[in-house]
Amino acid sequence: MTRRVLAVLAVTSLLTVSPALAADGAKVFQLQCKTCHGAKSTPMGPSLAGVAGRKIASLADYRYSAGLTAKAPAVWTDANLDAYLAAPTKFAPGTRMPTGLAGPADRAAVVAYMKGLK
Ligand code: HEC
Repeated sequence: MTRRVLAVLAVTSLLTVSPALAADGAKVFQLQCKTCHGAKSTPMGPSLAGVAGRKIASLADYRYSAGLTAKAPAVWTDANLDAYLAAPTKFAPGTRMPTGLAGPADRAAVVAYMKGLK
């Protein structure tokens, strides 16, 4: 993928949630996130419903790691979500989430998808 396409994706995700981008994100989410993140929090991972704009590590029904809790009271902005997914343990040393997404386009799509999770 070219830099130009990536730049367009990045700008699009900042301004609005494009339905096509969110649909791509839904596919990535099914494959790479859903085993640990369901509609309700489980020991495998917290619920991501409403995660965009929420305070980091703030659900009462999930026991977060000290590493992720240390990032609060920052909120899950697009940039923070992208950084966490790009390198979870770099963004929050000590986090229990083992993997993220290497591709910037996949991350932009999943972030767009998460904005629609209520
Ligand atoms: C192997 C299980 C696993 C997979 C796969 C996984 N996660 Fe996570 N995720 C976790 C765990 C566990 C936490 C809580 C981490 C902590 O407390 O340090 C977490 C936390 C998060 C948070 C922070 C939630 C909050 O309430 O602050 C986001 C956002 C997130 N994951 C997104 C994703 C996305 C998007 C994917 C797919 C690309 C994904 N995760 C894949 C286990 C997983």
